[in-house]
Amino acid sequence: MTILVTGAAGFIGRHACARLLAAGRRVVGLDNLNPYYDPALKRDRLASLAGLGDFSFHRLDLADHAAVADLARAERPRTILHLAAQAGVRYSLQDPFAYAQSNLTGHLSVLEAARALGGGLEHLVYASSSSVYGNRAEGPFKETDPVDAPASLYAATKRADELMSATYARLYTLPITGLRFFTVYGPWGRPDMAYWMFTQKILAGEPIDVFNEGRLKRDFTFIDDIVSGVDAVLKSPAARGEHRLYNIGNNDPVELLDFIAALERATGRKAIKVMKPMQPGDVLSTFADISAMKRDFGWAPTTRLADGLPVFVDWYRERTSTHAHAPGAGSI
Ligand SMILES: NC(=O)c1ccc[n+]([C@@H]2O[C@H](COP(=O)([O-])OP(=O)(O)OC[C@H]3O[C@@H](n4cnc5c(N)ncnc54)[C@H](O)[C@@H]3O)[C@@H](O)[C@H]2O)c1
Repeated sequence: MTILVTGAAGFIGRHACARLLAAGRRVVGLDNLNPYYDPALKRDRLASLAGLGDFSFHRLDLADHAAVADLARAERPRTILHLAAQAGVRYSLQDPFAYAQSNLTGHLSVLEAARALGGGLEHLVYASSSSVYGNRAEGPFKETDPVDAPASLYAATKRADELMSATYARLYTLPITGLRFFTVYGPWGRPDMAYWMFTQKILAGEPIDVFNEGRLKRDFTFIDDIVSGVDAVLKSPAARGEHRLYNIGNNDPVELLDFIAALERATGRKAIKVMKPMQPGDVLSTFADISAMKRDFGWAPTTRLADGLPVFVDWYRERTSTHAHAPGAGSI
């Protein structure tokens, strides 16, 4: 059974494809390999999938809805796992139209492709984000909480994706599930995210910017836990006409200063911290209530930060011993 994975060259897409290939699925990957961060990393992620199974790759932009429709018509996927997006909270202040193109037009292209597949489509699963919960100091955040005050354009586009998906599920009796991921980290990760930039700078003996003087909390979630959650959801499709939403997070928020201390232990180096004010668009805290994932799929995360961070640092050291990389914009 064929599965179409958008954002296959991305961080989460790469790991999801590896998992699906290991399970014997035929995977059709799509990505535009855009230069938001070093495309060489995206190419290397794709290269790492070679030999894992039946994988084909199509370089195209989701905003090109005719090309997406052609691909869906040619491949007739039973399932679509839609992970492509313009990610990053802070960059949405710099290049808002990239978010409109990938997250609004691009998401609509996927919904239209799903609509055209009609009864041949068993399930559409797409990535939303914890950012839809807005700037809240207290958690945990539940799927039923109000989400009408996004703190960034990125968050607003992700919320818009949820609303468009709910409408398409109802109007065209499509089975759709949206997953609100909480700060994902791990090997093959994203150079624009704080865990990567901190690791890079700590290892280079350079200072790190600590926003809101460290009074930020994040529910850091290890990539393997994200992928096992995605896998569990893929195995239990929504009903036709149903739109479901689930948090996938670690359910254990960590203060930024504690996170840095854990990274110091994982790297064996001391961080040079430069305290900075809160960044526009950032939120104070993320904290996933995961009772719905537990109830419906028996899923729970199993990787503590103290165990996951050294896995990332080992991978990072290995990669940077052979590759150069570009710094990113700094989302946490
Ligand atoms: N990593 C996290 O912490 C996190 C947290 C919450 C939500 N998410 C969401 O999860 C999904 C995957 O995130 P990720 O961390 O793997 O990000 P990523 O940037 O590594 O991967 C996204 C991929 O989508 C591709 N892409 C972007 N716009 C495209 C377009 N118009 N057409 C085709 N391809 C396009 C990019 O080239 C990239 O390879 C995204 O939807 C993101 O918003 C991620």
